[in-house]
Amino acid sequence: MKKNVVLYKALSAPLMAKLAAETDVTSIPDPTSAEGLARLRDALPHAHGLLGASLRIDEPLLALAPQLQVVASVSVGVDKYDVAAFDRHGVLLTNTPDVLTETTADTGFALLMATARRVVELAGLVRHGQWHGSIGPAQFGTDVHGKTLGIVGMGRIGQALAQRGHFGFGMPVLYHSHRAKPSVDERFGARHCALHALLRDADFVCLTVPLTAETKGLIGAHELSLMKPSAILVNIARGPVVDEAALIDALQNGRLRGAGLDVFSQEPVATDSPLLRLDNVVPTPHIGSATQETREAMAACAVENLLAALRAERPKDLVNPQAWRG
Ligand code: DGY
Repeated sequence: MKKNVVLYKALSAPLMAKLAAETDVTSIPDPTSAEGLARLRDALPHAHGLLGASLRIDEPLLALAPQLQVVASVSVGVDKYDVAAFDRHGVLLTNTPDVLTETTADTGFALLMATARRVVELAGLVRHGQWHGSIGPAQFGTDVHGKTLGIVGMGRIGQALAQRGHFGFGMPVLYHSHRAKPSVDERFGARHCALHALLRDADFVCLTVPLTAETKGLIGAHELSLMKPSAILVNIARGPVVDEAALIDALQNGRLRGAGLDVFSQEPVATDSPLLRLDNVVPTPHIGSATQETREAMAACAVENLLAALRAERPKDLVNPQAWRG
């Protein structure tokens, strides 16, 4: 008999066909709406697998799904999941690393460039018919090439940023992570340093750490005060890694040149957030991995992981190997 899968993310036709060939699929496009939630509650008692993204899955939800074997997340980040509860319930959690690394680093660099060169603000000036002559120093941006790139978190995405900065823009690279990585130092001429030293010396500070109890609020008022007033912060990690009120204060009061933000403490960001009124902020709607190619690759990876788990094969991208009983 086919296993039951609850799908809460749209899949391309080929991926849907692949999934449906081996499982019985119940699609719930918006599991956070009242109707979607009711359908989810009906489906969970029979579900063997879940596939989707952005749904918080914790103890109460897992308790509704006694047959559940695997949740295949279409994301690299796993901060929406209570992994300890997954372990208690013996449910496997998989994610989609690797396939989004380069695209997410592209997003980080796009934000860095756009903020430094004031691309969005100045495009707005053109668009609104306010380009009346050569722009003057008040609209000048700041150079990127040759400036110091500080990367907080030197995992796959951090390394892909270092590659862009070092080889593409001749940037000296500083990084902060649990440990020094000699291969990174060698490839990118990078230097491992303490967070406060990185904040003090970098012209661009890019956040790429996962959101955990340890990284929540990592960049607060004190850390922002260590940065150069000419520096730019880029956040492609998670909103809560930064104390948003402190960031707004620093940006409003000229203690920071600008910020490129793909993530926010609340998403979607509130339309009355002061961040949206600041010209020195480039906000994007959590588009780190959002290209057609990469989102398809992520979905394919999630389908593979889910089907493997339901066939009792060890999935490639297992987040909680401790729950594997293979
Ligand atoms: C990820 O894959 O974690 C992206 O940030 C989307 O949530």
